[in-house]
Amino acid sequence: MTSDNAAVVSDRAVPTAPDGADLPVGLDDGDGAAVLCTDLVRVYTAEGVEVQALQGLSLRVEPRELVAIVGASGSGKSTLLSILSGIDQPTAGTARVAGHQLVGMNRRQRVVYQRDAVGFVWQQTARNLLPYLTAAENIAIVLAVAGRGRGGAAGRRARVSELLELTGAADEADRTPAEMSGGQQQRVAIAVALANNPEVLLADEPTGELDEQATVRVLDTLRSVNDELGTTTLIVTHDAGVSDHVSRTVQIRDGRIAAETLRRTVTGPDGGPRQVAEDFAVLDRVGRMQLPPDVVRELGLRQRVRLHRQDDHLAVWPSGLDPTASGPDQWTDEGTQQR
Ligand SMILES: Nc1ncnc2c1ncn2[C@@H]1O[C@H](COP(=O)(O)OP(=O)(O)OP(=O)(O)O)[C@@H](O)[C@H]1O
Ligand SMILES: [Mg+2]
Repeated sequence: MTSDNAAVVSDRAVPTAPDGADLPVGLDDGDGAAVLCTDLVRVYTAEGVEVQALQGLSLRVEPRELVAIVGASGSGKSTLLSILSGIDQPTAGTARVAGHQLVGMNRRQRVVYQRDAVGFVWQQTARNLLPYLTAAENIAIVLAVAGRGRGGAAGRRARVSELLELTGAADEADRTPAEMSGGQQQRVAIAVALANNPEVLLADEPTGELDEQATVRVLDTLRSVNDELGTTTLIVTHDAGVSDHVSRTVQIRDGRIAAETLRRTVTGPDGGPRQVAEDFAVLDRVGRMQLPPDVVRELGLRQRVRLHRQDDHLAVWPSGLDPTASGPDQWTDEGTQQR
């Protein structure tokens, strides 16, 4: 590993990426991935000022995965989802979703992609449903436009019922959005987004306007859809509690994936299943990693750090500490570091 700002304290060479390894760490050539973003950059220019909303974001999501994307306001979550939904194009980098290469798509390809491969649920409930149609009609119109739903009108009716059942919105079938709560609208919106049987479902803050109880129901609905249909699902949310509902949470910081939390079920001491959550930092293709800001602050890490290679791990030290020394000599004077 090399780093512009790191002093490497080790008599062993720290390995660099193998020759020719130009793929992001942990990413292969994308075969089989439902979503594969490589080095996505999105620069917005507003009033002559550039904003780098995405700064080399790489992400791989496997088919059938349910992934939550979290991050502070302005970290680039919606920018990423706009690109994945085909609404926006990146300044640089590539994105592939459900086998569709999103960069360089023409208008027709984009229509086909949005109609057949992805479904969306937006934060603003009003953006998801047509206000003058009932829940059932909102779904039926999508089926009709896409020419889906076998067996003509009867087949479409059956598909509409199936989708409303799946999202727990069967009672809302004949109601218009104004006659539903926010949570009910979002569950119908999920049914609408699934009407085309998309391979990937994208949801940008689907619970942003909901109270806690409705939030839990919407997240549970997304999870059961993912379980039952196997639809690969990406949910953007501000809700830190979301990681309790999903097996993988990725955190965006400053336009890059900084960290991931993975949940898995293990056997507890009583022999029963127990959920454990583990936090990971994420390495990019050239070995860059973001240290958690609280750790940086608490350890007083600034500008340069020492990397101390051990057999099976790498320690990061403040530059004023010498990990090869012991006792009081461990401390060196920042201003008179050994040369
Ligand atoms: N159309 C635009 N023009 C200029 N700057 C933009 C535009 N869209 C987003 N940005 C900027 O890009 C950055 C990332 O914005 P983005 O909307 O992706 O963040 P976010 O993580 O979704 O935030 P939030 O949690 O508030 O929804 C922000 O600094 C934002 O101001
Ligand atoms: Mg957003």
